[in-house]
Amino acid sequence: MYKLGLIGYPIGHSSSPWIHEQLMKQQGVQGKYDLLEIHPDKFDEEISSLKEKGLDGFNVTVPFKEKIIPHLDAIDGSALHLGAVNTVKNTENGWIGYNTDGSGFVHSLKNRFPDIFQSGSKALLLGSGGAARGIYEALTGSGMDSVDIANRTIGRAEEVIEQISSRAQAEALTLAEAEESLGSYDLVVQTTTVGMSPNDQQTIIRLNRLTKGTVVSDIVYRPMKTKFLKEAEINGARVHYGHEMLLQQAVYAFKIWTDTEPEALPLLDEFEQKLKGV
Ligand code: ATR
Repeated sequence: MYKLGLIGYPIGHSSSPWIHEQLMKQQGVQGKYDLLEIHPDKFDEEISSLKEKGLDGFNVTVPFKEKIIPHLDAIDGSALHLGAVNTVKNTENGWIGYNTDGSGFVHSLKNRFPDIFQSGSKALLLGSGGAARGIYEALTGSGMDSVDIANRTIGRAEEVIEQISSRAQAEALTLAEAEESLGSYDLVVQTTTVGMSPNDQQTIIRLNRLTKGTVVSDIVYRPMKTKFLKEAEINGARVHYGHEMLLQQAVYAFKIWTDTEPEALPLLDEFEQKLKGV
């Protein structure tokens, strides 16, 4: 009987319990996945009492992906490098931290658009927060030749490029420069919360200079089809949705906790219906 859960704030609308319950059914695993909302002012004391609950593992979401680190006993290589943890496993050596966001993103993208992972491909990330860092690290290690980062505050984009070393070429841009040079990219990824419900009329940049066939991805999954993705489609792009990444990062977390081989694709249709409110 696995005891699993999610810590974050606020997490009342999270889809993670649904996803993990489906994965338990798929793998024939018994367990429970609970929402463990923690107020940021009480983080340290609540984490101490969580240690006593004997969970087998848990996910970590906003705003605790960095704050959890001092409470861990060890950190997996890539999460250490990123300074952000979204999955914790309780082992005989204590709490071990992992980050499955970037690998979840790349895996879900490769499933749908394998053609963009070839030499010579260029990607552009919009944003420089925690999500952007994970995606940057995973994308630069996935065969892309160049991964540029555009951000409202260009200094933060420069920091990400400096701190996360990679073999890919990388340049920091302003959002205005990104709009101008959009036509030269094979992949554009929106990694910020801009456009998330209830602010679903916002978009981070205009997409009128896109080249037809470019893959445009948005990590926001409420609404499922953001205004950014709608505009991308109008401009001839192929679109990749935030919920595809969400599902895959959950699959990787589940695999770490249970040592099973869960699959995301069989859940995708039902998850889409659920997000659309059907
Ligand atoms: P997280 O770690 O959860 O990703 P974060 O560190 O606050 O969150 O980063 C949020 C990202 O969204 C940043 O890239 C931020 O841009 P700045 O670095 O300039 O602050 C970006 N962002 C948030 N609101 C934005 C907006 N209205 N327009 C453009 N970028 C925005």
